[in-house]
Amino acid sequence: MFVRRIAVVGTGYVGLTTGACLASLGHRVVCADVDEVKIARLRAGRVGILEPGLAELVAEGLAAGRLEFVLGARNAVFDSEVMFLCVPTPMGVDGAANLAAVESVVAEVGELLPQGCVVVNKSTVPVGTAARVGSLLNRPDVAVVSNPEFLREGSAVADFLNPDRIVVGCDAQDAAERVAALYAKLGAPTVLTDAASAEMVKYAANCFLAMKLSYVNAVAELCERLGANVIDVTEGMGYDRRIGASFLQPGPGWGGSCLPKDTHALSQVAGSVGFDFPLLQATIDTNARQRHRVVQKVREAVGGSLAGARVGLLGLTFKAGTDDLRDSPALAVADLLREQGARLTAFDPGVREGLSDVTVVTDPYEVARGADAIVLLTEWPEFRSLDWNRVTELMAGDTIVDTRNHLDRDALDRAGLCWRGVGVSGSP
Ligand code: UGA
Repeated sequence: MFVRRIAVVGTGYVGLTTGACLASLGHRVVCADVDEVKIARLRAGRVGILEPGLAELVAEGLAAGRLEFVLGARNAVFDSEVMFLCVPTPMGVDGAANLAAVESVVAEVGELLPQGCVVVNKSTVPVGTAARVGSLLNRPDVAVVSNPEFLREGSAVADFLNPDRIVVGCDAQDAAERVAALYAKLGAPTVLTDAASAEMVKYAANCFLAMKLSYVNAVAELCERLGANVIDVTEGMGYDRRIGASFLQPGPGWGGSCLPKDTHALSQVAGSVGFDFPLLQATIDTNARQRHRVVQKVREAVGGSLAGARVGLLGLTFKAGTDDLRDSPALAVADLLREQGARLTAFDPGVREGLSDVTVVTDPYEVARGADAIVLLTEWPEFRSLDWNRVTELMAGDTIVDTRNHLDRDALDRAGLCWRGVGVSGSP
């Protein structure tokens, strides 16, 4: 395998995972960020995000001298053969991806990149960005490649090292092949294509996943109305290999730093070229509705009005295994509950700091104390082994709204609690 000198600009969860994993594959990697404190911490091997296996890989890379952290992109690129752009592309006010960080890195390093360097964009950017970066760079010797990432938070390292596929797009075939070769050791199916198609793969995939979830959430609602059980329905669907069993769990709606942002961005881009995309809009609208459905269930559980009701929340993060609260459906539900007058106490294994208007406790049983109802919003495994008899004793009410169908219904029954799931016959 060729060992390459690689610069990675941006040390968020994508950049840091990319840098640490590429170093673990044998490459020499210099990671850069504009945040001085973060760089100092990373140099000392301190990884600020909850991502299994990442701290170990960073420590290994540092010890082996294959991984370095520097302040500012300009200090990372001077002898690199490949530069990865892993900077944030947040949602702008109009729903479109904001490319300010990408543009500012390009402006900073454009003239410093060594002759023949390849710029690889890993940030999720609108179709056409590779071309735009190419013209901003104005360096005929530097090819711009799109290499979207498909990592999930909470399993980023495992996803990087065992990818379903590698997608590399460039209008110059040899540059695409050079980038694909960086991952050769992983033996993953590789799609070599043009830059616009690679950029589109990322949006098309994330929006498809969001659509699958909105579909399942809508099916769950229909199951409730028709007396069917969504757990069995999705099991029956999932064995069909054309559908697949994953991403079929109903919940309080999908969230996180990617699916909401990317669905809005693709919708905005579609509109900008005059393409009507009602399927995507329905995906977004169904998700917004799902939060209201959860609130309605809680309202019913506390007897019809949330005003003054004490509601305990199990889970705040957008999914289990992460401490990320960005665009968390749990927070959206909490906001709606509070607007209707509920008093909230929350526990989440990944969240220790208080939030405005929600009392965050460090003991899950504190959520139960005096609660008229409890709502499980995030599927942390430890919630399954709570002592439900103790919960019953502490609660004022008796209903647990389980928005992820995560808990053992029989265990709750035995403790005298009333389980209310999603899309399950017998749920209101
Ligand atoms: C998502 C994609 O899954 C990754 O492939 C992609 O690389 C990443 O976005 C990105 O663009 O960077 P992530 O945001 O980490 O990854 O989260 P997911 O695991 O996809 O979960 C998204 C949301 O869907 C969460 O709120 C989760 O609870 C929800 N979900 C997921 C369900 O409600 N049911 C399911 O069956 C699966």
